[in-house]
Amino acid sequence: METTLIILKPDAVQRGLMGRIISRFEDKGLQIVGCKLMQISQQLAATHYEAHQSKPFYPGLVKFMTSSPVLVMAVRGNGAITIARNMMGATFGSKANPGTIRGDFGVSNSFNLIHGSDSPEAAERELRLFFGPGEVLNWKRDGDGWIYDMSGGKAE
Ligand code: RTP
Ligand code: MG
Repeated sequence: METTLIILKPDAVQRGLMGRIISRFEDKGLQIVGCKLMQISQQLAATHYEAHQSKPFYPGLVKFMTSSPVLVMAVRGNGAITIARNMMGATFGSKANPGTIRGDFGVSNSFNLIHGSDSPEAAERELRLFFGPGEVLNWKRDGDGWIYDMSGGKAE
């Protein structure tokens, strides 16, 4: 099972879209194993987006991410990283396909509602940045036997 870091960005929180976006992950069968509302500090935004430090959009990105609270989630499932990225859609709201979160809820390119880790390495790094010890729970979801085919001994 993979765990990925999802951030509902300030625009998603301010626009009251948290519940509808969380529902999409629950509807898909992904499991929420960590969740908190937080204000991202300047330092945390800089570390999280350090790969983009030299990009022209970086100052605006840090300003946006620290402008208002975000909801961070640890989301788990088989292939959760790719599944979540596909559910999010293309980076720019203006280009994201209908049916995706960015495609259905926004038109802006920089205010694009949601972040998701883009690789297993990024997920591990980002989960450690945003969640402290004990904040990601390994809880047993009773319906998992109907979410996954477990007949082969592993989740399919
Ligand atoms: P994210 O990291 O937030 O999940 O988004 P992403 O992988 O789809 O896109 P990425 O290339 O990593 O860019 C990070 C965030 O920077 C903002 N951005 N603005 N105005 C621009 O040209 C531009 N390009 C990127 C977006 O908020 C994007 O999510
Ligand atoms: Mg990215």
